[in-house]
Amino acid sequence: MTNNHHSTVAVLGSGKIGLAFVKQILQKTSYRVYATGRRSETLKAAESLGALALRDNNLAVRESEIVVIAVKPFHFPQLLSEVEPESWKGKIVVSLMAGVKLDTLRAAIPGARVFRAMPNLNSYVGFSSTAVAENGYDDTSRTVEEFLKIFGKVYWVPEEYLDIWTGLAGSGPAFIAEIIDAMAMGAVAAGMPRELSYEAVLDVLEGTARLLRSRLYQHPGQLRDAVTTPAGTTIKGLMVLESGGVKAVLMKMVEEASRRSREIGEEINLKILEKIRQR
Ligand SMILES: NC(=O)c1ccc[n+]([C@@H]2O[C@H](COP(=O)([O-])OP(=O)(O)OC[C@H]3O[C@@H](n4cnc5c(N)ncnc54)[C@H](OP(=O)(O)O)[C@@H]3O)[C@@H](O)[C@H]2O)c1
Repeated sequence: MTNNHHSTVAVLGSGKIGLAFVKQILQKTSYRVYATGRRSETLKAAESLGALALRDNNLAVRESEIVVIAVKPFHFPQLLSEVEPESWKGKIVVSLMAGVKLDTLRAAIPGARVFRAMPNLNSYVGFSSTAVAENGYDDTSRTVEEFLKIFGKVYWVPEEYLDIWTGLAGSGPAFIAEIIDAMAMGAVAAGMPRELSYEAVLDVLEGTARLLRSRLYQHPGQLRDAVTTPAGTTIKGLMVLESGGVKAVLMKMVEEASRRSREIGEEINLKILEKIRQR
């Protein structure tokens, strides 16, 4: 357990990713957590995890040292209007919003130290792969890194990589879930029960990740070759995979998801800057 000496974190927006953050923070640290939302169901869910759940974003920001922004980007202008500019001053702000650029965040909340992070839903079990921009190589950056490690692995990246990260690791759990489902269904088609097939695929996934991380094989292709017996089962399966163009499809999947992240970013940044100008 990290000893945070009663520091306080605000999670603004207790939706899917917000609640995952709340859960891990309360499980692993002694931070007090303010979690905000609009609907009573949202507040109840945050409260049941042990957070101080409230609608008042201004109070949550004012009372906290670290502020996590976990609302959808298009809800950000409304959230901004609910928090007094003074309340942000001196805070460490970690935005999880896809596409909202650091420059936009700095213009929206002057006086705060802002970071942009892209975690994924695996945060819920402490296995996120989180990219964060940008490293100031100072105490505040180290605090942010320690904080984000609560949810899994942390990678400092230049901001320009965040859209690609969103298409790869942010959307990644959904992509992997589809692949897992497809393989399990294949086993069902071959005659094995669904539950057993599903557990087996999850084991294969976790084990393969560990094996590749061990660097016994330097490249996934080497692992593939090690499993592939001439005229055996694996090569027959691989031939089907190749004839379906699956590898190219998966490459395009990540590229297209990344492109869409960039596109959404461009739309939303203009809208947010327009709202700020109207203030
Ligand atoms: N889900 C992911 O895997 C993931 C991964 C990385 C980053 N993100 C980013 O995280 C953000 C949230 O995504 P999500 O999937 O968690 O969305 P979500 O489930 O829709 O959650 C958003 C939450 O924000 C709350 N909210 C909206 N306006 C608010 C306001 N003015 N004050 C307080 N709370 C407010 C909503 O509360 P009510 O329901 O009560 O209205 C909702 O619970 C997005 O910007 C997304 O880009 C998500």
